[in-house]
Amino acid sequence: SRLEMFVDELPDMPKIQGFGMVNACPVAKSLSIGMFSKKWKFHRDLPPTSVFAYGTSWRTATVPGPTIEALQGVDTYVTWGNHLPSKHILPWDPTIPTAKPATGIPTVVHVHGGIHEPASDGNANSWFTAGFKETGPTWSKRTYHYNNNQQPGNLWYHDHTMGLTRVNLLAGLLGAYVIRHPEVEGPLKLPSGDEFDRHLIVFDRDFRTDGSLYVNSTGNNPSIHPQWQPEYFGDVIIVNGKAWPKMTVRRRKYRFRIINACNARFFRFFFSNGLEFVHVASDSTYLEEPVVTNQTLLAPSEIADVVVDFSKSKTDEAVLANDAPYPYPSGDPVNESNGKIMKFIIKRTREFDTWRVPNKLIKYPCPDQSIAAHTRYIAMYEYTSNTGEPTHLYINAKPYEAPATETPKAGTSEVWNVINLTADNHPLHIHLALFTVLDQTELVNVEEFKNCMSKLNDPVKCQISKYARGRSIGVAAQEKGWKNVYKMTPGYVTRILVRFSYIHSNTSYTFDPTGMPGYLYHCHMLEHEDNAMMRPLMVMK
Ligand code: C2O
Ligand code: CU
Repeated sequence: SRLEMFVDELPDMPKIQGFGMVNACPVAKSLSIGMFSKKWKFHRDLPPTSVFAYGTSWRTATVPGPTIEALQGVDTYVTWGNHLPSKHILPWDPTIPTAKPATGIPTVVHVHGGIHEPASDGNANSWFTAGFKETGPTWSKRTYHYNNNQQPGNLWYHDHTMGLTRVNLLAGLLGAYVIRHPEVEGPLKLPSGDEFDRHLIVFDRDFRTDGSLYVNSTGNNPSIHPQWQPEYFGDVIIVNGKAWPKMTVRRRKYRFRIINACNARFFRFFFSNGLEFVHVASDSTYLEEPVVTNQTLLAPSEIADVVVDFSKSKTDEAVLANDAPYPYPSGDPVNESNGKIMKFIIKRTREFDTWRVPNKLIKYPCPDQSIAAHTRYIAMYEYTSNTGEPTHLYINAKPYEAPATETPKAGTSEVWNVINLTADNHPLHIHLALFTVLDQTELVNVEEFKNCMSKLNDPVKCQISKYARGRSIGVAAQEKGWKNVYKMTPGYVTRILVRFSYIHSNTSYTFDPTGMPGYLYHCHMLEHEDNAMMRPLMVMK
């Protein structure tokens, strides 16, 4: 029996302020947020599901976790506490590079999009078990420091444990994090406040009839990896912790910060009644000017920050739908279940709207290739067994454990040529960095180039410039700003200009002189990241 759609109200996740107030002045704040094992009701007709949830207590923990609201320039300290039991609720795979404490479930939290000191960045090897009993090789402290010294924007936090990121997120360890800057954002008069400025955190799951999460426990290559699957896809679409929820809205503008929190599913959102998205920001920064679209393509971990004006609706209901094939771009078409996200019920009464979308938003420095200190080549590979099934995915043909090869200097810019030699689109995410997409060019005679690469693994020796001269595809207007993740088209070279931030910190930190990498870059399809389309990023002083 199928779950009925649009029966549960869209919840809002609890909000936690990442700053305090003393004499009407914002001050730093210390939070304590735990990870708890509990039951969560994803749908009216589905029995409660065992999940792992973030919260300030077991009772208040939610899936997704609470939304952390930070203030630009005001420090937030978080002690992330692991209160999980000894056994995971989902099957995992010891044959991929995985954190393996003697007992307990390892976890570590990364604030995605944050510009933070390495010790607080949530490196995959900085994991810890319940009560900090055991810790990973790069773990150094219990309390993370987020100085929030960056542009206002949309971040999110999620687990990042070596080899377990995919299962820890499937279990529920993710939540939203916002950095606000009232002096800069207030004058824009965009929809704001709890009623009109909302998060939509979207992911896909499958359930058994007893309510438990269903994850295929047999790998596609069981003799090599007993459990690991190349991509997880579920048919039930969850928004803010409810399956296909509904939301009643007034006939006016709302701001939605839409986070694709799926392991592997891309979404191409559209409204059933033609309502438009007015993009005002992306995952890292505001746009210089609003961009109006009919559809919004989001890879895993990408964020769209849009205004929807329901006063323009010609109908009293609108379904937010999805038509992205999975895997993207050449997998299966959507079906009745995963092609629908949620329903908006639009009140009839006309209203006076005090919110607006200004013609100019916020301008940031333009990308400047002439200052690039370095040019790098980042090749994405998929390896298959003799049955043709994927066994693992690597960047530059290197396992994660190979010493860091990307060692940019803090405060400099680089041009990265990302060469996607696989058949799938991979969302590449770089910690600590902001980047803009310069161009995307198709590789011609790609088999010949791949042949050379499989022997030499060197794009320059394989004469990449001879091959990178096919069609070029543009970057959508709403994605032209600074981002921290972008979709790498298969068979193309995507050139990005990457800026590696300085880390402003009022506590002392060091870039580890022993060469222990602080940061990471990786594909954000979590099954790929875990096995092991991820590399260390060592940012030098
Ligand atoms: Cu959202 Cu390194 O991850
Ligand atoms: Cu990938």
